[in-house]
Amino acid sequence: MVIAIDGYSSCGKSTLAKDIARELGITYVDSGAMYRAVTLYFINHDVSIENLDMVNIALSKIAIEFHAVDGSLHTYLNGHDVEQEIRSPKVASNVSEVAVLAPVRHRLVALQREMANKGSIIMDGRDIGSNVFPTAEFKFFITATPEIRAQRRLLELESKGITTNYQEVLANLKHRDQIDSTRTLHPLIKTDDAILVDNSNLSRQQQLKLVLDIIRNNHSVN
Ligand code: DC
Repeated sequence: MVIAIDGYSSCGKSTLAKDIARELGITYVDSGAMYRAVTLYFINHDVSIENLDMVNIALSKIAIEFHAVDGSLHTYLNGHDVEQEIRSPKVASNVSEVAVLAPVRHRLVALQREMANKGSIIMDGRDIGSNVFPTAEFKFFITATPEIRAQRRLLELESKGITTNYQEVLANLKHRDQIDSTRTLHPLIKTDDAILVDNSNLSRQQQLKLVLDIIRNNHSVN
């Protein structure tokens, strides 16, 4: 079974996907973390996104994996745990520009499809239902108002000790939404077969129940 969860930045996709993965006992993959890891590598190695030769060479040197650490999945870049670093504002403000690059997308999409060969999977991102797994058994498109999303992201960053402010978070989020939904290659779109979930006024538990009920009532095996 493949479950695709797409939606805007900071709309709670990852939280929902992790909760579903735990409930159903399937693998969770955070595709955004993969774009963030590539972005971190580009920043640390001064890879210019204008120079596609440099981008291709860098991509050939990047290995991304997920490993469980203290009960949660951490992103590893070339053998190093980068889970904290990829969530930093520095990476957040550059990732959308990196994610528009065709070589980056082709490499990561291939990797994402490989991950689904190993068993049932739930993956969240922007193009999972529209491009990575167009025949996914379940597709959900998650949204919430930009203001609510910015408030949630601010709390998340603060809880990790990252100093920022509401206006900065809101501006970054709108900037990313704009790039993610207007890029030429694999833009964020809601496909006709995706189920829309606006969680602006839903608690984590309410949203989980709503989505789990849909999956359990429609899954061909369960
Ligand atoms: O979900 P996130 O905020 O961690 O994603 C970070 C960025 O990666 C986001 O701005 C767009 C990009 N992304 C993408 O283009 N395609 C995906 N499948 C997932 C993320």
